[in-house]
Amino acid sequence: MSTSSQGLEGIKAGESAICTVGLEGIGLNYRGYGIDELAEHSTFEEVAYLLIHGALPTRDELAIYRRKLAGMRDLPGGVKIILEQIPEDAHPMDVLRTAVSALGTLEPEDESHNEKDIADRLIACMPSILMYWYHFHKNQTVPKLNTGEDSIAGHFLHLLHGQAPDEMMKRCLDVSLILYAEHEFNASTFAARVTAATLADFHGAITSAIATLRGPLHGGANEMAMELIQEFSSVEDAEKGIRALLAKKAKIMGFGHRVYTTCDPRSDIIKGWSNKLSYDKGDKVLFAVSEVIEKVMWDEKKLFPNLDFFSASAYHFCAIPTPMFTPIFVFARTAGWAAHVIEQRSNNRLIRPLSDYTGPAHRPYVPIEERGQ
Ligand code: COA
Repeated sequence: MSTSSQGLEGIKAGESAICTVGLEGIGLNYRGYGIDELAEHSTFEEVAYLLIHGALPTRDELAIYRRKLAGMRDLPGGVKIILEQIPEDAHPMDVLRTAVSALGTLEPEDESHNEKDIADRLIACMPSILMYWYHFHKNQTVPKLNTGEDSIAGHFLHLLHGQAPDEMMKRCLDVSLILYAEHEFNASTFAARVTAATLADFHGAITSAIATLRGPLHGGANEMAMELIQEFSSVEDAEKGIRALLAKKAKIMGFGHRVYTTCDPRSDIIKGWSNKLSYDKGDKVLFAVSEVIEKVMWDEKKLFPNLDFFSASAYHFCAIPTPMFTPIFVFARTAGWAAHVIEQRSNNRLIRPLSDYTGPAHRPYVPIEERGQ
């Protein structure tokens, strides 16, 4: 009889002091601080500092940290050349994965590049990587990577749109980065820890994590949710369409969760922002369609939206192209991944589980001449 757990469901695969997900079914805390309060009062830079350095920064520490990150946004010439070679139609997640790997060869981890500096460097330059590649191919221009913005959210939106961002969009993106920053032993974080546990380099662990996040069952869900929402031109159309998809046993991206059982505590926060932006932009369809999908999913399947669902419309209202939704998840989650790599290294043991074998019993080798045609 099998004793293994499909997908490691319900298995505790290690200890961590970084985050709790769904304790008693609900809630999310980063180093003890509740997600509601962080999303209301803090900024992504504060949260990244909290995750990587272990405590909330003082006002001075935060100012120094923001300046540090702003000073790490430019890219080495070697990475720029690689970005110029990556095809225009590549998936942006593959662009990030390739550039982070390349950065590991140009700025390898050694005495002059310690792990926290590498973490900060990666957080600081992720938007630059994406935007350099995007503008080089789309607009045949090489963007100036120093925008003067003092936040990752502002820097990204400024690079994307070529002008100082609207305050509401900037704060919405900043909050979404806070919500996406960390989530315990999710698939990509676990991949980063498995890689780190072999004593591989920091960039290698983050490269593994980006590759893992790309799939639609994980980070890629926000892009697929947007594509689905855009298929419907009215609330009635959406209600009918979702019921038909459910009748065909289709999975609706942006719903359900492995750990949360009744709701994703991040969803209402981003939904509030999506609602605000929808009103601000004069939207009459997208938000209403999203809400009716939420209602049908609950009525029919008792499934609730996860963070990816309302992030999709919120990003859309910020005029962010859909293929950039999962890369934004990378901008944020790099902070969580980095905290986990540092924690794994601080008390390391190789991660090497067993499997329940289901293949044939031991049998004698058959020489090739005796196997027939
Ligand atoms: N749409 C429709 N049905 C869903 C569903 C969804 N989004 N999520 C789960 N279900 C159903 C499954 O079809 C299955 O039904 P069944 O028992 O009748 O076959 C049941 O709920 C359990 O689903 P399962 O995929 O085994 O649960 P899991 O714990 O392995 O999966 C997710 C968790 C997140 C992978 C899953 O909910 C999912 O695929 N969601 C869509 C992708 C997504 O939003 N990912 C981002 C996660 S933050």
